Amino acid sequence: MLPRAFSVTSALTALGLLLSACAPSSTPGSAPAAKTGAASANIEKQSVKFSHVVAEDTPKGKAAVKSAELVSQKSGGQIDVQVYANSALYKDAEEFDALQKGQVEFLAPSTAKFAATVPEWQVLDLPFVFASGREGVRKVADGPVGQELYAKLNKAGMQGLAVWDNGFRHFTNNKRQLRRPEDFKGLKFRVQGKVEESMMNALGGGAQVMAFSEVFGALQQGVVDGQANSWSNAYTQKFHEVQKFATIANSMNYLSYAVVTNKDWWDKLKPEVRQVFTDAMKETTTFEWGLAEKDNADAYDKIKASSKLEFYTLTDDDTKALAEAVKPVFAEFESKIGKDLVDKVRAAAS
Ligand code: LMR
Repeated sequence: MLPRAFSVTSALTALGLLLSACAPSSTPGSAPAAKTGAASANIEKQSVKFSHVVAEDTPKGKAAVKSAELVSQKSGGQIDVQVYANSALYKDAEEFDALQKGQVEFLAPSTAKFAATVPEWQVLDLPFVFASGREGVRKVADGPVGQELYAKLNKAGMQGLAVWDNGFRHFTNNKRQLRRPEDFKGLKFRVQGKVEESMMNALGGGAQVMAFSEVFGALQQGVVDGQANSWSNAYTQKFHEVQKFATIANSMNYLSYAVVTNKDWWDKLKPEVRQVFTDAMKETTTFEWGLAEKDNADAYDKIKASSKLEFYTLTDDDTKALAEAVKPVFAEFESKIGKDLVDKVRAAAS
């Protein structure tokens, strides 16, 4: 049996029923009105799946639901996007295979997770590339380098639809405050992917690539000492309840997502249907970028208010020392994904 999904159509149908029960049937805004619009007349009733690994109360979680609402609206209620949050349908390592097999239509993995499918997307995961913050990510995503990265997805049978934002990743751990490279020595970190693994090794720490859904348990049982993530992920996963120290690292690693679908499925869609998804994704992306920064600031405040963690903010000197120590990561990935691409992203992001 499929895990419970958020489905707009069932929510709208329930709402529609409620509205029509409360108001005479001709009132604008009741269910029948949703069926108007030439485009939807040509759209068969259908349902598709959007799977992701984070909590609903996160920028990505809210955006996935928003995209479902907009797709339903724009298709006159004909297209139902069923959203599966919290790895309910697929864990990190299963997502791409399911997309390729057509078992799910939409994913929004972190760019770190494209290591095995489209390694070039890891360029967005390189440390200190987005020291200028989210505007740098947006400049890359919306610019010629972004187009180049989308084209790489096509070669792997995927269609890129958008880049979503989730802010900088900050360190937490159970052993000691992290300020300089030497503080990472001997500690073991959960990492999302290969770039972060290489980074932790360059800092003298150990690293274990692990599915997001397993991180809380691994921190609680001491399988790993620490991790790095956005405040919204750390808060919604309760990492602060099983960690002691937090290092605010507002220049090191950025967490962004690539929203993807299966290219074959996408190319075979009726133009009206593809237009519905395209328009909905465009509005959703504006919505997602609009809330990510505030969501992370609110999550940070809640973690701070819990008094569970001892906080430290990296100084400029700390940052310089860390940036120096992780230089080998660039040498490694310039050879893996191409120095030209890395240089272009760095230039576009600055
Ligand atoms: C992680 O694995 O830590 C994140 O990529 C999860 C997510 O999708 O934000």
